[in-house]
Amino acid sequence: MAQFPSTEPVESDSPEEITTRRRVMKDLIAFSVGAFALAFALPALAIKSLSFEKKAVAAGDSLVYATGEKSGQPVIPGDLKAGDGVQAFPNGNNQPDALVELVKIGDGDDIAAFAAYSAICTHLGCTVNAKLNPEGHISCPCHASQFDPKDGAKVVGGPAGRPLPSLPIKIGDDGSIAVDGPFSGPIGVQ
Ligand code: FES
Repeated sequence: MAQFPSTEPVESDSPEEITTRRRVMKDLIAFSVGAFALAFALPALAIKSLSFEKKAVAAGDSLVYATGEKSGQPVIPGDLKAGDGVQAFPNGNNQPDALVELVKIGDGDDIAAFAAYSAICTHLGCTVNAKLNPEGHISCPCHASQFDPKDGAKVVGGPAGRPLPSLPIKIGDDGSIAVDGPFSGPIGVQ
């Protein structure tokens, strides 16, 4: 076991040696207390700075493809056919919590043919699959939760306890699909 130097005087010690040893012990204790406090303070500061950087999903932002050869380009209604699912970010906001699962649930290019939801699973926070499964549901690769995009992303299978939050959308001024308000509820695990 580690032994700290004793501050007790021994017969051979001079008064200067005793004083020096006590000062070293005091410095050692002060350093340990400081390091302990820092170990708690740093994670708290990191969380605080992250929450400051978080950008809200704002009405009017175009949805842009999150991945693939069109990554960063706006999603145009005519790009998708009924049954397609793609993932997109509000333009300029590519934080994980802002990822959107956009599904074409009907025919035509009217906004009513589309539904948008958070792409973060409400079970334990995995990202759902972009493509719908053969049943036409949004599925999660982690524990097989399934959500019905035609019914408000209601849970239709697996362990998730609540639907994916929905995101209001509209056709923007440039003809692309755009955000029309905040998510309907908290994102991911709650
Ligand atoms: S994280 Fe999606 S089903 Fe568990």
